[in-house]
Amino acid sequence: MDRTPGHALDLGFAKGDDAIWLAQQGWDVVATDIAQAALDIAKAGAAKRGVADRMLFAHHDLAISFPEGRYDFISAMFLQTPFEFPKREVLPQAYGQLASGGMLLIVTHGSAAPWSWSKADHPYPTPEEDLAALGYAASDKEVAFVGGVRRTARGPNGQTAQVLDNVIALVKE
Ligand SMILES: C[S@@+](CC[C@H](N)C(=O)[O-])C[C@H]1O[C@@H](n2cnc3c(N)ncnc32)[C@H](O)[C@@H]1O
Repeated sequence: MDRTPGHALDLGFAKGDDAIWLAQQGWDVVATDIAQAALDIAKAGAAKRGVADRMLFAHHDLAISFPEGRYDFISAMFLQTPFEFPKREVLPQAYGQLASGGMLLIVTHGSAAPWSWSKADHPYPTPEEDLAALGYAASDKEVAFVGGVRRTARGPNGQTAQVLDNVIALVKE
């Protein structure tokens, strides 16, 4: 990522790989998740990789509370849950906490891997549909990028497949 390291926030970090990677690139990172088990695993991972001093792990149910502060970069990578979750309120809240020039990166699934439990019996939204659900159009000045990005996913038994991610980057003026 070609952004100058500053203050980053990772929403729903799970094992913390992305948040730890950001810290390794020089970012000061606040990482938040609802799952205490995720916090324990990610904290141990940060300590093992020598970046714990750059990271603050915060326990939040984002439906109820949100980390305070201004951020130069906020990531919402596959921020999803089978439970009720007000994503259309949480993501605008995240955008509102960007510093001037800061970026909110949102990545969602655009297709399912063959081994996924989530067999697509419904079409996945396009990146533009995801963007429209947030109240933006591709031509809006806040939209730095909207599109599908292919990547090679690795399955539980080491198998690989091409999957599509929907990627949206919003930049605050
Ligand atoms: C599919 S995982 C994505 C993990 C990681 N960002 C990644 O890209 O691999 C979704 C994460 O969001 C977290 N999450 C779900 N609901 C949440 C909520 N209400 N508040 C905070 N985190 C939540 C889950 O605990 C889980 O770690």
